[in-house]
Amino acid sequence: MVIGKFVKLDPKVKFYYTLHPSPTIVLVTKCPNGRFNAMPASWNTPVSEEPPTVAVIIDKEAYTFQCLEYHNEATINVPHIGQADIVYALGSTSGRDVDKITKFNIKLEPSETISVPRWSEAIASLEGKVYAKLDVGEVRLYVFEILAVYVKEGLYTQWGWDLTKTSILLHGAGRTFYGVGRMIRAQKVQ
Ligand SMILES: Cc1cc2nc3c(=O)[nH]c(=O)nc-3n(C[C@H](O)[C@H](O)[C@H](O)COP(=O)(O)O)c2cc1C
Repeated sequence: MVIGKFVKLDPKVKFYYTLHPSPTIVLVTKCPNGRFNAMPASWNTPVSEEPPTVAVIIDKEAYTFQCLEYHNEATINVPHIGQADIVYALGSTSGRDVDKITKFNIKLEPSETISVPRWSEAIASLEGKVYAKLDVGEVRLYVFEILAVYVKEGLYTQWGWDLTKTSILLHGAGRTFYGVGRMIRAQKVQ
């Protein structure tokens, strides 16, 4: 691969595409309208191992923001590459206007440690309770303490996902998603 010179970009124009594609999760929350809601978030990251925590960044205009302020638990569900259409649809409508769980036939099942259910068809589901919050600009960053983790049997190894069998869903831009492509292993550091 030939790597050329740097060209300057405007940080106000989609600077974050430099960090995409980004693993997408679907957050299920309990909302003030009495329903559960589901929204994709590709801005997320593990934070610490002890305690186990994950941060998810939520725009304050999303209904999910109101849902998390109403009830401080959520399931962080990991979709697979075959679920791009439904994930995109969940991210293109608001639970403020429609019951997305019914409309998109999202199958839910009870979680172990929290009262918010998990998405049955995800390949993993992490049960989280809000541990910390940080306001930055138009968003609130929620750090969830992870209380339980479930993965679909046969797809997960001690090294993580078995990518010969499945792929997590990476969000590029707009309607563009990727799976995980070739794998390489870095040289050992002496
Ligand atoms: C693949 C994908 C990833 C997204 N990632 C985020 C994100 O990380 N944070 C966010 O606030 N919105 C994100 N969005 C937008 C929300 O999912 C979208 O605004 C959604 O309609 C909010 O739903 P709600 O109003 O029911 O909460 C994403 C959308 C898509 C399609």
